[in-house]
Amino acid sequence: MELHQVKELLTQKLEASALVHATISGPRQKSNDLRRIKLKPILLKDTYAIQLEFQYERIIKHENLSVDEFLERLDGLMEEFRQFLFRFETEEVQFQLSKKMKVSLKTTQQSPLQAELSHNRKKSHLLEDGVAVPFLVRLGVMTEDGQVKRQKYDKFKQINRFLEFVEDSISALPTDRTLRILDFGCGKSYLTFALYHYLSVVKGFDLKVTGLDLKKEVIEECTAIARDLDYTNLEFRVGDVHDYNEDTEVDLMVTLHACDVATDVALARAVDWNASVILSVPCCQKELNRQLDCSPLDVMLQHGLIKEKFASLATDSIRAEILTLVGYETQLLEFIDLEHTPKNVLIRAYKNDRQPTEEKVDRYIAFRDLLHAKPYLAHELSGRLGQISSKLVQ
Ligand SMILES: C[S@@+](CC[C@H](N)C(=O)[O-])C[C@H]1O[C@@H](n2cnc3c(N)ncnc32)[C@H](O)[C@@H]1O
Repeated sequence: MELHQVKELLTQKLEASALVHATISGPRQKSNDLRRIKLKPILLKDTYAIQLEFQYERIIKHENLSVDEFLERLDGLMEEFRQFLFRFETEEVQFQLSKKMKVSLKTTQQSPLQAELSHNRKKSHLLEDGVAVPFLVRLGVMTEDGQVKRQKYDKFKQINRFLEFVEDSISALPTDRTLRILDFGCGKSYLTFALYHYLSVVKGFDLKVTGLDLKKEVIEECTAIARDLDYTNLEFRVGDVHDYNEDTEVDLMVTLHACDVATDVALARAVDWNASVILSVPCCQKELNRQLDCSPLDVMLQHGLIKEKFASLATDSIRAEILTLVGYETQLLEFIDLEHTPKNVLIRAYKNDRQPTEEKVDRYIAFRDLLHAKPYLAHELSGRLGQISSKLVQ
């Protein structure tokens, strides 16, 4: 295909608003500080536009263009870069340009995918690149003048994504008392600080947040940062989630990438302490992988890789089902893109105290028994589950 034909193809697709995402990379000049440009469609006051994310060596900048404006820039971009990858709704268009602008093109049909336009609009409401936020500066995610550091950009996106979930959950939290929030397995606590900043500093909630982790040095460091930031109602403690019993009432339980069954312990304590909202991103999951025994699925389970993924998905499905049984409206949602981490399922549960139907109970038992699963969470919540139905106790 000739270059002008490639341009026609792109023009046609872009004008049809079929873009999902794109990457322009491979700068022709080694000295070019601009490494790559990522593109995605967004809505700006309900008008379709393309957002360009310019990824420099150390910083990231954004610019929003109409389709026409972008097409006007295309020639310049082709002179500056060699590699182009456009993911459209049903097709991937990938091409390289030689020094003499000869095209080597590959197009592949893809299963249909739609751009998430509404998310983009929402994201820009939370933390913004270019606007300094003290905790992000202190944690080294931003420079003093608010530019997100290049190597911290994924973290920045993860924090923003997490805050979207927090924002969506606000209406499910009580408003008549000091909010009690726990983060089990808080680690370096980027998200704990983000949570505090958003709910306390931005939204003005009266709250008390505790981050808990096994690692003493990490907790000491987090304590020092909270002190520097003057986050007086944020504390960190060294401890094991299995032993923690300081609280009897919690409003929001957060657990992000807490290893293996630490997630289950956190979920069980959240239920015991009547948490209104649970936000949990599980981590590695080894328990069900060891238990799985289901010969009709051997075509899948004979492959270690598939078995591990299946065990992980089944575990999170079981967790969601158990939370539903004990009175939570539960959803499994995407946390961040797969390209950043495989740990991308977020369990969101809002307390609704609804009694499960007999069919729901039987559906869960049928799935559990099919896999020969003995879920840790069911064990931790055996008292509650037993009150719902004796069939739920193993
Ligand atoms: C993968 S890190 C995640 C840290 C942080 N929540 C995040 O998302 O960036 C998991 C953390 O859980 C902590 N952890 C694991 N098991 C724990 C337990 N039983 N009690 C308390 N913390 C635990 C580890 O020390 C580690 O810091």
